[in-house]
Amino acid sequence: MQAVSEVIRSGWLTMGPKTIEFESEFARFIGVQYAIAVSSCTAALHLSLEAAGVGPGDEVLVPTTTFTATAEVVTYLGAKPVLVDVDAQTLNLDPADAVRRITPRTRAIVPVHFAGQPCEMATIRELSEKHGLHVIEDAAHSLPASYRGAHIGTLSELTAFSFYATKTLTTGEGGMITTNNAAYAERIRNMRLHGIGRDAWKRYSAAGSWHYEVLDAGFKYNMTDIQAALGLVQLTKCASMREQRCQIAARYTSAYQNMGSLEPPTLLANRESSWHLYVLRLRDSHLRIGRDDFITELDKRGIGTSVHFIPLHLHPYYQDTFGYHRGDFPVAEREYERCLSLPIYPGMTSEEIDCVIEAVCAISEDHLA
Ligand SMILES: Cc1ncc(COP(=O)(O)O)c(C=O)c1O
Repeated sequence: MQAVSEVIRSGWLTMGPKTIEFESEFARFIGVQYAIAVSSCTAALHLSLEAAGVGPGDEVLVPTTTFTATAEVVTYLGAKPVLVDVDAQTLNLDPADAVRRITPRTRAIVPVHFAGQPCEMATIRELSEKHGLHVIEDAAHSLPASYRGAHIGTLSELTAFSFYATKTLTTGEGGMITTNNAAYAERIRNMRLHGIGRDAWKRYSAAGSWHYEVLDAGFKYNMTDIQAALGLVQLTKCASMREQRCQIAARYTSAYQNMGSLEPPTLLANRESSWHLYVLRLRDSHLRIGRDDFITELDKRGIGTSVHFIPLHLHPYYQDTFGYHRGDFPVAEREYERCLSLPIYPGMTSEEIDCVIEAVCAISEDHLA
């Protein structure tokens, strides 16, 4: 609150020195050369695909288990999202299914680190090199997370982060792109602010000039200094907030792992999850209660949950526009039917964690098959 008040008192509200400071602190935290702040992860994904040269007629591989933003941005560029089934264990994009869907028009692949657990990036890199695809990571869930000791945000050409209100670091709304490629960084900096040449934001400052040149038809995707002030403070707490999420996840898993009716998430070797989500799955053959009624029972006890995600191919838009049907992605559908996301957030008290564990265990035991 203090940091935001300082920005308001400074008189400079939109993109300016705080945004630049947030970008350099974020780049340092991730260990990457360039970080470019934008208005959302959706904007970050759009600008990344644009910088990579995705255009009309191209195809882009996207997992069906994701939020619509990952695929909708592909359509902004006149390209086609090609959905891919997921791995049953991690719910991350299944590289073997991705390979089956590659055509001569495939230009890029967008792996999503579902719930915060990094995808199998070595395999994705291998297939992208073999088939000449750009890799743009959707890291909306995975700050901070790491794969084989390297932070997510350092592994591919371009990575997009989200600072939406529910995310592990929030600026209310906001996003960031990380890259080690100077040409991409410059293109994205221009395109996030109307396609105006370098440092367009300075044109109203004493250091700037009234003169500017429009180099392309860009977008209005900049961050504001009010958001950046929130982000800078949150960044200093990012590691400790992750630690709290890890502890909650560990409590949940130790409570559920020996219950035959429940399947806690599995964290694979050589990676650290941000634990943005804790996705519990019900073993339906052991239970007389389905996922929807399970959620209603938790709701009656005052426990809020959600479902991540209704696979994209089950939504009317993707069916009507691209001809997808129920049955096209069997793994994603089967896992969707039996998953729910439990509360997990820094500041969750020990009593609150116990309350969730007790409720989940009681509902399961009351409905054993
Ligand atoms: C996987 C994924 N990608 C992208 C987004 C879009 O993020 P934003 O709201 O910052 O645009 C979300 C938002 O929930 C998401 O879950």
